[in-house]
Amino acid sequence: MGHKVLAVFFTLICAPGLYAVFLVPSKNPVAVGTNVTIKVNDTGIITVGLWLFGPSTLYMWYPGGLTQGASLQTGTEFDSSTYQLTLSSVTLKNSGLYVLESMVPIKTRAEIALDVQEPVSNTTAFVSMTNLVEFNDTVTLTCSASGTPLWFSWHNGSSTVTPGERVELRNGGRELFINGVTRYDEGPFKCLVKNNISHAETNQMNLNISYGPGNLVITASSEKMVYVSGSDIFLSCSADSKPTAAFYWMYNGNRLNVYGSSYNLRNTTQNMRGEYTCVGKNPVTLRYAEVTKMIQIVDPISAVTVHPAGYPVEGTAFNLSCNVVGPVDSIHWMKNGKYLDDDTDDTITFFNNNSILSFYHPDLSDDGLYQCAASNAVSNMTSQTYDLMVNYGPNNTEASGPHIAVVGSSVTFSCSSVSRPQSQYSWYFSGLNVKNGSVYVTEPLSKTNSGEYTCMAFNSITGRSSIDSVTLAVYVPVSNVTVTSNNQQPIFNQSFTLTCTANGDVQHIQWMKNEKNLNSDNMINFTDNQSVLYINPLTLSDNGLYQCLATTAVNNMTSVTYDLKVFYGPWNTTISGPLVGAVGHNVTFSCSADSHPTSRYSWFLNSTKLGEGPELTKDLSLNSSGRYTCMASNEITGRSSNASLEFTLRYPISNVIVNAGNQQPVFNQSFTLTCTATGDVEHIQWKKNGMFFILTMESLSPMATRP
Ligand SMILES: *[C@@H]1O[C@H](CO)[C@@H](O)[C@H](O)[C@H]1NC(C)=O
Ligand SMILES: *[C@@H]1O[C@H](CO)[C@@H](O)[C@H](O)[C@H]1NC(C)=O
Ligand SMILES: *[C@@H]1O[C@H](CO)[C@@H](O)[C@H](O)[C@H]1NC(C)=O
Ligand SMILES: *[C@@H]1O[C@H](CO)[C@@H](O)[C@H](O)[C@H]1NC(C)=O
Ligand SMILES: *[C@@H]1O[C@H](CO)[C@@H](O)[C@H](O)[C@H]1NC(C)=O
Ligand SMILES: *[C@@H]1O[C@H](CO)[C@@H](O)[C@H](O)[C@H]1NC(C)=O
Ligand SMILES: *[C@@H]1O[C@H](CO)[C@@H](O)[C@H](O)[C@H]1NC(C)=O
Ligand SMILES: *[C@@H]1O[C@H](CO)[C@@H](O)[C@H](O)[C@H]1NC(C)=O
Ligand SMILES: *[C@@H]1O[C@H](CO)[C@@H](O)[C@H](O)[C@H]1NC(C)=O
Ligand SMILES: *[C@@H]1O[C@H](CO)[C@@H](O)[C@H](O)[C@H]1NC(C)=O
Ligand SMILES: *[C@@H]1O[C@H](CO)[C@@H](O)[C@H](O)[C@H]1NC(C)=O
Ligand SMILES: *[C@@H]1O[C@H](CO)[C@@H](O)[C@H](O)[C@H]1NC(C)=O
Repeated sequence: MGHKVLAVFFTLICAPGLYAVFLVPSKNPVAVGTNVTIKVNDTGIITVGLWLFGPSTLYMWYPGGLTQGASLQTGTEFDSSTYQLTLSSVTLKNSGLYVLESMVPIKTRAEIALDVQEPVSNTTAFVSMTNLVEFNDTVTLTCSASGTPLWFSWHNGSSTVTPGERVELRNGGRELFINGVTRYDEGPFKCLVKNNISHAETNQMNLNISYGPGNLVITASSEKMVYVSGSDIFLSCSADSKPTAAFYWMYNGNRLNVYGSSYNLRNTTQNMRGEYTCVGKNPVTLRYAEVTKMIQIVDPISAVTVHPAGYPVEGTAFNLSCNVVGPVDSIHWMKNGKYLDDDTDDTITFFNNNSILSFYHPDLSDDGLYQCAASNAVSNMTSQTYDLMVNYGPNNTEASGPHIAVVGSSVTFSCSSVSRPQSQYSWYFSGLNVKNGSVYVTEPLSKTNSGEYTCMAFNSITGRSSIDSVTLAVYVPVSNVTVTSNNQQPIFNQSFTLTCTANGDVQHIQWMKNEKNLNSDNMINFTDNQSVLYINPLTLSDNGLYQCLATTAVNNMTSVTYDLKVFYGPWNTTISGPLVGAVGHNVTFSCSADSHPTSRYSWFLNSTKLGEGPELTKDLSLNSSGRYTCMASNEITGRSSNASLEFTLRYPISNVIVNAGNQQPVFNQSFTLTCTATGDVEHIQWKKNGMFFILTMESLSPMATRP
């Protein structure tokens, strides 16, 4: 019946919330000896149900009844109102599956596996070996404990040990196996043992792991890349090592008798630089390790100097070298305090790590104060300035001096040139060195000293020379300029020559008349290089003061004047004197002629010579009438000319009387006055009251009569 009825119930009472019945133990797992209650978390009423433990029934209830299973243990209780089951002082045997089956009103089933466990106790651990060597040794830590079930875990300090390359957990974690221990494996290790109801841990265990030496480091008292000589350098060596390593030192691979972690280098020198090695040995691991430190020790630069390679000469490559005493890292050049750069300056280059400054083609723009600055890691030093002055020349060599000179004088030549340093000068004449020095004052010169004087300027530094010349002509100056006529007489209408003579190198002669230059014309010619003045024919207009001016390259001189007076005449000879004269009186005749020199005069009466001189005075006698001739004669020209006059002898007038005769001067009648005189009267003139009458000749009739 049951089955059908139950099926009907099931169908009827089946309602939401009744399907899920859960068993909730007050704890699970449950420690041995404690109580546990399995609650049913369902409010529904189970009219018919049963509790099972494994295959055996613990309780069965139904309306009006409760039956206990046969295998029910003591201490097990059932609460029929809540259907909960309580187990007291459980033992391991209480572990198992507890099932609640509801039969009525619904058929459902719930189960719970209750786990009764023993608490952890008696935990201990031990280690196979405690003094270990890193990497070489293997260690096993073993943990043991009582209680069930057990989980083992290992802790190193605060972290949980997990299996890895070197680490294995064996035997359910009871053994910690470390293969090739490291220094980090020292622990403290402890083993933690637990189950679901308790836990316990072992004492801490420490491993003593010897390691190293490693990480050797040499530190210096003050770390520097480079130390200056004289520094004290304190080296100390450290290593990661357990136990502490023992050190010794090596230098450049050679073992030193130096032990201990520190090594002090005092008052170092450059040759103490090198590799310092610290070797560490661990007495336990028996391992060695070493570290090497390079110690650089550099002497400071103690001197820097600039040296020229020879002399700087314009246009010739030139080097300056920088000499450094001490180790050099770099050299820089400065000009006038500014750094030089051969990348930007085409005219210079640096060689030999800048120790040589090379000028391809030095010129004056390279003049300046040069320094080189050398530096190394510990010092730097700048040289004194080197005053670079590019030598040049001689340029523009110029010889100067007169081009003409007078015999006997001395002349001064001087020579100049643009040159650094000053050129040396020497003078040459006719291939001979006549003087060293820029100024050459000649000896008194002779004609043979004419020629080319060459100055050579020589610059002993540049080795160059250049020349320039002056051409000198030496002249005899003109002197003693005279004009001569060679004893010729200048005679009118004849030819005449004047000769100009002079001493000296006369180049030109100029004739002058009355201080004016004479030029040739059809009557005047110059011959013999103008030295001869030829006049043909001479005229009076040639009279004058003649000079010649003789000119040389060096002077001129004018002669004293030559007074040319042309000899001529006599011309226009004239005789003067009375044409008539009275006996007993003296008569004077004069003669003149145009003549040079003055003519001599000779007097003749008819052909009888009376005398000489320009005047002739003669007392008149009865035979003094006749033709008087004056002859003028010029001694130089050899010419003469005459002039004559006819002289008549007369009686002089006397007894001049005015005679009226017997006449009376009657008004309105004629009246005659008669002039009577003795002598050769030629002419009568009347006066009235002391005044001459002006009469016609007809009105008068000469009445003079000879005695
Ligand atoms: C019963 O237990 C289950 C699981 O713990 C829970 O989900 C449910 O709500 C409980 N029911 C009652 C009535 O306590
Ligand atoms: C366990 O149950 C027994 C009897 O029911 C009781 O005497 C005892 O005190 C309980 N123990 C604990 C720890 O509750
Ligand atoms: C604890 O361990 C020791 C040694 O391993 C053993 O002799 C002893 O019986 C153990 N005690 C319990 C309660 O297991
Ligand atoms: C250091 O060494 C130099 C020679 O190398 C010596 O002249 C000098 O006196 C030394 N200085 C000290 C302080 O020892
Ligand atoms: C460690 O092992 C190496 C080879 O594995 C051995 O040569 C060395 O002697 C060992 N060191 C120690 C301290 O036992
Ligand atoms: C040179 O040396 C002085 C002092 O030693 C330092 O002040 C300066 O900076 C140095 N100059 C260079 C270019 O190294
Ligand atoms: C000297 O003469 C040379 C050649 O003519 C010329 O190149 C140079 O510049 C001159 N130097 C000076 C300083 O005048
Ligand atoms: C000048 O010339 C005259 C004649 O030619 C000569 O007698 C005289 O010695 C000369 N005088 C000098 C100083 O040359
Ligand atoms: C002077 O020279 C000119 C031409 O040279 C000539 O005609 C003339 O007859 C010459 N006179 C004399 C006086 O020789
Ligand atoms: C002659 O020399 C004087 C000075 O010595 C000079 O003044 C004059 O010009 C010169 N005359 C000529 C024609 O050379
Ligand atoms: C002579 O004198 C007259 C007058 O004084 C003059 O005209 C004439 O030319 C002269 N004769 C000579 C030859 O000089
Ligand atoms: C005339 O001339 C002569 C001689 O010259 C002189 O002695 C005489 O006294 C003169 N008679 C007169 C009158 O002048």
